[in-house]
Order: sequence, then structure tokens, then C-alpha cells
Amino acid sequence: MNEADTQTIEVALGARRYPVWIGRGLLGDSARWRARLRGRHALVISNTTVAPLYLDRVARGLEGLRWSSFLLEDGEAHKNFGNAGRALEALAALGATRDACVIALGGGVVGDLAGFAAACWMRGIDFIQMPTTLLAMVDSSVGGKTGVNMPAGKNLVGAFHQPRAVVADIDTLATLPDREYRAGLAEVVKGAAIGDTDFFGWLETNADALARRETATLVEAIARKVRYKAGVVARDETEQGERALLNLGHTFGHALETAGRYAVLLHGEAVAIGMVLAARLSERLGMASAAETTRLRQLLDRLGLPVALPEGMAPEHLLELMHLDKKNTAGTLRLILWRGIGKAEIVAGVDEAAVLKTLAEATSDHALSGRTIHP
Ligand code: NAD
Ligand code: GLY
Repeated sequence: MNEADTQTIEVALGARRYPVWIGRGLLGDSARWRARLRGRHALVISNTTVAPLYLDRVARGLEGLRWSSFLLEDGEAHKNFGNAGRALEALAALGATRDACVIALGGGVVGDLAGFAAACWMRGIDFIQMPTTLLAMVDSSVGGKTGVNMPAGKNLVGAFHQPRAVVADIDTLATLPDREYRAGLAEVVKGAAIGDTDFFGWLETNADALARRETATLVEAIARKVRYKAGVVARDETEQGERALLNLGHTFGHALETAGRYAVLLHGEAVAIGMVLAARLSERLGMASAAETTRLRQLLDRLGLPVALPEGMAPEHLLELMHLDKKNTAGTLRLILWRGIGKAEIVAGVDEAAVLKTLAEATSDHALSGRTIHP
């Protein structure tokens, strides 16, 4: 595979359109992405892990412009209001005008905060996503959800603000730790599990190549997931309905992340376990068969993802945490459940006793056993 093999997916939102480029050597291919900049100012937002690795590649493409960089400390805890404010101050110091562009170079933490700063500066300026984690390439960089965390909860404040382009240079994944890579694969599986049966079968066939990070297979997997997500976002940009399906496994997952104080599970790992729990609950409610859950669990397991509850998490506490989810309405649980591979649906007023039984069973049932995370 070489630079000529770049895949382009177009996200089309009525008259607004932007490309997602996926391939090798794209950060250095500035002729491609610089054409998306409209003005003379650019602020690159990155973090202290990613910038030393990749900022110089981007900097070479910004020659002749007025630009500066703003670096976050590494970690989810830094996706906050204080840093969004500091990013806006960096735009002010740069003298950024309405045609300025923010460039987000990093994982989902950087992308969400940078996009939020771009949405706020002068009520919205351009931004370009340059995702450097697999999760950011297949999920957070596409679709325009931006935001920051509050002490009261994750992603509570934000804006829908679409990027001008997404530059997914898979060469950057060479330095991504294995655990982060696998967490990104969970988001790939999620897309297929929600709405693309063929893709799910393709993943089953190509799981070993993906686990080995084979380039052509990886580009194809990213492209398929992005194409699927682009379709959903095109139909429901602001999550009035269908887009909520992209949250399969998230209500369980967020509860697991919170219960582990964000130190036990990565987001993608929590989503992997959450999807299995959602599948088991769907079985209990008579919506799906055990055979479908087994296929999902086996694929996640082959990709090196956890599928069992971390030890020491109490079902009652997890249920309590699930009540804090943004999808809930009027105190009732609203979950994404499924009818098998490729068929997710939104279910309101889910029976809490069934949720509790599913969680309790998951703490003891060997049917769920697999890779367990020990806090
Ligand atoms: P992250 O941004 O924290 O990155 C994970 C780790 O990998 C960090 O330590 C980072 O510094 C490091 N890293 C990044 N790129 C690297 C590289 N190429 N080489 C070496 N290290 C690298 O986490 P993430 O998983 O990318 O994103 C999670 C965030 O994304 C969460 O804040 C979540 O809320 C958000 N998210 C947003 C959306 C959305 O639609 N906006 C969707 C999913 C997740
Ligand atoms: N990650 C869910 C969404 O983009 O809607």
C-alpha cells in the first residue's frame, strides 16, 4: 500500500460536505489538506504526547501562514472548560480572524476540545481533524460532536460543529500503544454490530489481520466504519433519532468507566463489555438469540478486547450510574438494544429488574467470561 491508495469518504450534510481521507503519509501531503484552509491563520491544538511525534509534519505544511500551537497535558481530565478557554486565548493571541482554522492533531480528547474551541471562537470557525488514534479515526473525528467534560459529568457541554476535513494518516498508528489500538477496534465492531451485517462478516474473516495491524485491511476497516457513520450522520446530524443508535453499549459502558473512576477501562474497552451486556439484556427481553451474542462476544475476544465485567463492580451501583446517561428521559432508562447483528434499536422504559439481573449474571456467569480486567 502506498500514498496513492488513500480512500476518500465524503460526509454530506445537505449542501455542506467534507472529505475524510484515510491512508498513509497524509500529514505530509499538505497540498491535499492545506487547500481546505480559507484564511491566513491556523492554531494547531495537540497534546504533549502527540506533538513531539507528529507536529513537525503538520508544521511543514503551514509554512507561509501565521500559526501557533496550543498543547494540552495528556489525558481525559484535561478535556475541560479551563483548557477550552486557554485555547480561545491562544486564538486571540494569534489574532485569528473569522477565516482562521483550528487543526486538531491527536486522539478524541484533543479533537473534541479543539472542535469545541473552533465552534466558540467568533461563533464558529473552520477546523480540521487530524486523528492519531484508531478510535478518533473511526469515530470521534467524524460527525461534528465536540465538547468538554464538567465535574458533573463527561461531555456535558458541547456543540455540533462539523470539520472542514478529516485527515486520517494511518502512519501515526505506528506509535499507538496496543491497548489503545484494540480500544479503537471496539468502535469498528460497534458500527458493524449496529447496522451493517456484511461488514460484521468481513470483520470475522479479517479479525486476525486487523489484530496484526495489516495496513490494507486496516484502511478498509476504517473506511467501512467511517462510511457507515457518515450515512447515519447525514440522515440525523443532531441526534434526533437514528444517530442515538451509535451509542450501542454506551450506557452500560459509561457506568463501567465511572465505576472504575476512568482508571480501570479505556472507553473502547467499556464499550466492548457494554455491547455484550446490551446483547445479553436483549436476549433476556426476547429480542435477540444467544447465538448472536456469542458471535459478537467471540469477535471482540479475537480482537483482544475484554468482554467480562471487571471484578468488584456491584450491579446496583452500576444501575444507579446508568440513570445518569444523557439518553434517559423523565427518569426512565432508555437504552440501545438489538435484534442481532446489524439490527440495533432504541428502547425506552427498559425494565430495571431485567437490567439488574443481566448485570448480576455477568458478575458470576461463565457464559460471559473472557478477558477480564482486574482493577
Ligand atoms: P485520547 O485522545 O486520550 O488518546 C489516547 C491516548 O493515546 C492518549 O494518551 C494520547 O496522548 C495517545 N495518543 C494519541 N495518538 C497517539 C499516537 N499516534 N501515538 C502514541 N500515542 C498516541 O483517547 P481517544 O480514545 O482517542 O479518545 C477518547 C475521547 O474521545 C473521549 O474524550 C471521548 O469522549 C471522545 N469521543 C468523542 C466522540 C465524538 O463523537 N466526538 C466519539 C467517541 C469518543
Ligand atoms: N459517537 C457517537 C456519535 O458520534 O454520535
